[in-house]
Amino acid sequence: MRAHIPRLLLLASVWSVCTGSGKWCYQSQVTCDTPCKGPDSWHEVHEDCGKFKQSPINIVTKKTELDHNLTPLIFSGYQQAFSGILKNNGHSVRVSVPELANVSGGNLKATYKAVQFHFHWGENGGPGSEHTIDGEQYPMEMHIVHMRQDFKSLEEALKDPTGVAVLGFFYEESKSANKKYDGLIQALKKVEHYNTNTTLTGISLSNLISSEENMTKYYRYEGSLTTPYCTEAVIWTVFEIPIPLSKDQLSAFSSLKFEGDKPMIKTFRPVQPHKSRTVYHSGSTVVMLSFTLLLVCVCSALGLSQLY
Ligand SMILES: *[C@@H]1O[C@H](CO)[C@@H](O)[C@H](O)[C@H]1NC(C)=O
Ligand SMILES: *[C@@H]1O[C@H](CO)[C@@H](O)[C@H](O)[C@H]1NC(C)=O
Ligand SMILES: *[C@@H]1O[C@H](CO)[C@@H](O)[C@H](O)[C@H]1NC(C)=O
Ligand SMILES: [Zn+2]
Repeated sequence: MRAHIPRLLLLASVWSVCTGSGKWCYQSQVTCDTPCKGPDSWHEVHEDCGKFKQSPINIVTKKTELDHNLTPLIFSGYQQAFSGILKNNGHSVRVSVPELANVSGGNLKATYKAVQFHFHWGENGGPGSEHTIDGEQYPMEMHIVHMRQDFKSLEEALKDPTGVAVLGFFYEESKSANKKYDGLIQALKKVEHYNTNTTLTGISLSNLISSEENMTKYYRYEGSLTTPYCTEAVIWTVFEIPIPLSKDQLSAFSSLKFEGDKPMIKTFRPVQPHKSRTVYHSGSTVVMLSFTLLLVCVCSALGLSQLY
């Protein structure tokens, strides 16, 4: 009996080293020689990561509910060119945005100003988005983080359940390169290593996102930050139509490095339980329906109803 105890202790210590201790990290960073806490253990260091309104989620389109109030968002200052610091923060690359752009409308209860944007990706263009649609994981996802305009800092905004609004954009692989991303992707080479930064000049948010007509279809739900502290203060807007990038452009993100110079890949949190939350979708299908009805009316008025 006594002889078993040291073996159990040994097993227990190997287990704790391999599952990690200390700082949070993505699953792709968890190894026996670099102890860190992968997504399944985030709640051990940051309690909120185990709560009930966590992000990301898998969006089951058949279960989403139409909300007529989800009209197109109103973007202000998004066209304005600015300089922002692009930084490898050890988890992602992030660009800080000065106070010049805000978003409202689309049933948001206030105006929210853009603070920063960053990305989540896979490995060389493989699956890498955080949100998934009917189980499909896109190669990459961008988050433009906004805080309610009456707050002074993100820390302050995160204390309010509706303090933060994040716009999520998917990417899909296209045959040709997306020229609008050339500047950003070139600059990635300058922030390959952890804690390095460079200044991006002459960028605008509207250049990085879809055209306004391609942003009318979106999903809305209440969730959290997708990294610790996993704070549940986020109104999520996830756009349906992805932004095109070539395979080379998507792969460029995989050249970045985590702390310790391991490839920065698969920087996404796995999807979290819905826990009785409803996901709403915007009403663009209704526009199509009324357009069809209009056609039917016009056609029958013209005596062409036999066509139907
Ligand atoms: C939103 O941004 C626009 C353009 O920068 C600015 O004119 C407007 O005052 C801002 N609105 C609010 C409510 O901050
Ligand atoms: C960017 O890097 C420089 C030089 O290493 C450093 O002094 C500065 O604090 C960094 N800025 C940010 C925002 O990290
Ligand atoms: C809108 O999205 C479609 C694909 O869904 C794409 O073919 C088209 O080029 C996009 N339009 C613009 C202006 O980005
Ligand atoms: Zn994010």
